[in-house]
Amino acid sequence: MKKVLLLFDSPYLVKRGYDFRKEFSDFDWDAEREVYKALLACGYQVKMLGLYNDISFLLEEIAEFKPDVIFNLVEVFNQKSHLDKNVASVLEMLQIPYTGASPRSLLVCCDKGLTKTILNFHKIKVPQFHTFYRRRKVWLPKRMNSPLIVKPLSDEASRGLSQASLVEDEKGLVERVKFIHESIGDDAIIEEYIEGREFYVSVIGTYRLKVLPLRELTFGKLPEDEPKIATYRAKWDYDYRKRWQLKNIFANDLASDLRKKIEKVCKRAYRVLNMKSYARFDIRVTEEEKIYILEANANPSLDPDDELAESAKKGGIKYKDLIEKIVKFSTKR
Ligand SMILES: Nc1ncnc2c1ncn2[C@@H]1O[C@H](COP(=O)(O)OP(=O)(O)OP(=O)(O)O)[C@@H](O)[C@H]1O
Ligand SMILES: [Mg+2]
Repeated sequence: MKKVLLLFDSPYLVKRGYDFRKEFSDFDWDAEREVYKALLACGYQVKMLGLYNDISFLLEEIAEFKPDVIFNLVEVFNQKSHLDKNVASVLEMLQIPYTGASPRSLLVCCDKGLTKTILNFHKIKVPQFHTFYRRRKVWLPKRMNSPLIVKPLSDEASRGLSQASLVEDEKGLVERVKFIHESIGDDAIIEEYIEGREFYVSVIGTYRLKVLPLRELTFGKLPEDEPKIATYRAKWDYDYRKRWQLKNIFANDLASDLRKKIEKVCKRAYRVLNMKSYARFDIRVTEEEKIYILEANANPSLDPDDELAESAKKGGIKYKDLIEKIVKFSTKR
């Protein structure tokens, strides 16, 4: 029987062997709990390890349990999200098969500017962008057309994104970049705003890739003059979503030509970014059917209610089978 170590981040320091099943009852832990249950249902011998800031726990656990595969759900180490790649690097150094993105993909995708530079080089459309690092001068680049959207360079889950993220002129731009630098504590990226439909495209596989059924964010009754963007509230505030009837749905009405074009672009993006297990692209498609990649998410959420698992289910892949596939991809690379 294959031994799988389920590795995730813990919000506090606990001893090795700590049983997280109490935490698992909270909805914040949906992904960890459901992956754990799925791994057991697959018949693997499973142990769990929650890391806070002590990497020696991981080394000890591996030495003792000798897992065949590590199911890597680590998103932060010592509360720092950019250190996820360092945890994956340790697994790489120990030469143990692990699920999800490589340290390289985690590094690239954690920087929305770097991701866009690579995609652009490979002639995959991305919005015009410019990066403003902290403690540097901020200005409006001449080549860029308003409106612009100002985002944290590496933060996720739409933190720091609100209707105020959309700016029209240099004054607004400087103010908003300052907000990202000082209040969010991140470098900033500014991008040309792409008007269009917003899709979430999940891709799985190592060499032979599969694009799962597309999801779309629809903006319901959001007033005409409000920018249609997935702000923090639009994603996480249940009442706000209900009031304006924002919905994440399956994109069923797409012409098959356009769907195929989207699938092709996302597969190419997956390949040029050297992704290996599962990923999700956030894209926009304009009325003229130009396809822009807004963001590449390495190791997107595996919460069964989130986009990737929803898309898999629609594509005929049950949650347990999705998790089993992901385990299998890890030993094939
Ligand atoms: N250039 C752009 N043009 C139009 N809308 C944009 C653009 N960039 C971002 N957005 C809007 O803002 C949302 C969040 O942007 P993005 O995906 O880059 O950030 P995120 O915080 O990393 O999100 P995630 O939760 O997917 O990790 C997008 O889903 C989209 O609605
Ligand atoms: Mg996104």
